[in-house]
Amino acid sequence: RLPLPAQIYEPLRANSKGVEFGDKAALAALLGERDAAPPPAPARPSAVGKNAARDVLSPIDGAVVGQVTETDPDGARAMMANAASAFPHWNATPVETRAQKLERAADLIEARRGAFIALLQSEAGKTLDDALAEVREAADMCRYYASEARRLIHEVRLPGPTGEDNRLRYSGRGVFVCISPWNFPLAIFTGQVVAALVTGNAAVAKPAEQTPLIAALAVSLLHEAGVPRAALQLAPGAGDVGAALVADPRTAGVVFTGSVEVARHINQSLAARAGAIAPLIAETGGVNAMIVDSTALIEQVVDDVLASAFRSAGQRCSALRLLCLQEEIAPSAIETLIGATKELRIGDPRRLGVHVGPVIDADAKAKLDRYLALQREAGRLLYAGEAPTPGYYVAPYIVRLDRVADLREEVFGPVLHVATWRARDFDALLREIEASGYGLTFGLETRIEERIRDVATRAPAGNVYVNRNMIGAVVGSQPFGGFGLSGTGPKAGGPEYLRRFLRETTVTINT
Ligand code: SER
Repeated sequence: RLPLPAQIYEPLRANSKGVEFGDKAALAALLGERDAAPPPAPARPSAVGKNAARDVLSPIDGAVVGQVTETDPDGARAMMANAASAFPHWNATPVETRAQKLERAADLIEARRGAFIALLQSEAGKTLDDALAEVREAADMCRYYASEARRLIHEVRLPGPTGEDNRLRYSGRGVFVCISPWNFPLAIFTGQVVAALVTGNAAVAKPAEQTPLIAALAVSLLHEAGVPRAALQLAPGAGDVGAALVADPRTAGVVFTGSVEVARHINQSLAARAGAIAPLIAETGGVNAMIVDSTALIEQVVDDVLASAFRSAGQRCSALRLLCLQEEIAPSAIETLIGATKELRIGDPRRLGVHVGPVIDADAKAKLDRYLALQREAGRLLYAGEAPTPGYYVAPYIVRLDRVADLREEVFGPVLHVATWRARDFDALLREIEASGYGLTFGLETRIEERIRDVATRAPAGNVYVNRNMIGAVVGSQPFGGFGLSGTGPKAGGPEYLRRFLRETTVTINT
């Protein structure tokens, strides 16, 4: 039996207790007494290497959140050597023992929820709702992959002629390199690492440069849960650390979430190096579209668009980038949407009631500001919000597109593009959306059943959402990941994910 995801039951429990996120006391009660104490100062992740410690700065106000000692390519190779020597013992550990350690890690993550929320807010700039959802997702990853490992990893007897014994067995492949992004510094980091570990692999994990402290806390809890230190190593550092790990001939596989460009580099590097031909599991971006037709319920559309485009300041790979409104309803839908967007509160995400926090750093803000300046010059801005200063804030923007094909790159922030379409052009519109080459998330708002069936069959993206928002995939319920430029699959939080981490062997014995 699959565990019921915390992402589903906890919000239900919260609602049944009438907890609103504006209510600090009720929220504290929900989070439990263990979290009443102020979060301890985050551990300082230190790594092998000759670098000096550097400050980790908050995207909210530039305050020092903690310090990290980053490793370098030599340090990363030393970690790889340690992980490789830990692999045989960890791989020989019964799957039940490994699964139990993941379940213990889930309990520890929940017990330290307060510390994680504090860090997700200060280090990654998350709102309280986002931080809470991410802690749940990380715990769900641990419990789901524990249960999946039990289901998948056992010896299978296969048929054969009399006198022949055929068995299919599963084991780890070796050392997995796990490279994770800053936008889900706990959930994606943990998901990658525990998937590698529970299948018997050792792991060297390189977190995003912006969020090493959250990763360090997660790793310390996994160690506390009983994962051997050598089997899971944290390699904080810059791109050269990731590159050294990928190029190392001992690397048995890479799991990566980030940009298409980096995924291509990893592929090339894996192909060029000596050593085994290793798999890459990559989850990259999307130019995610939502089609709204004239039968859709406009209040619902506005709610769903706001959440999909602007929640997490649009810094989700699942986020809505391109809203396609049927011509007849476009003027009134845009007006209602602009009205609702104006109501969003932008600012310090630690304040309750704030909807949109900062983008991750100065580079991200500069890139978005440049893009928006170009749109302004071209006269395409339908709505420009006002961002507080100082800080890395980018307000929600709505940009008009003449043609769907004008948006072919992921704009990673709170920027929604809007195009219109004519009723008879639905199929052509779908084809144009598909022509971007991405296929991560897709939304449809309609009350025409036939259209719902068509889109469900055609599945223009890895995750299709009908008449709801298109973010926040739930582990085990909405396995997450796309195809084409959006990634290799298999889907994280889905029944196929762990297989890619496993080595299969068949043993035939003539008895
Ligand atoms: N899993 C996340 C989501 O569904 C990824 O961005 O929103």
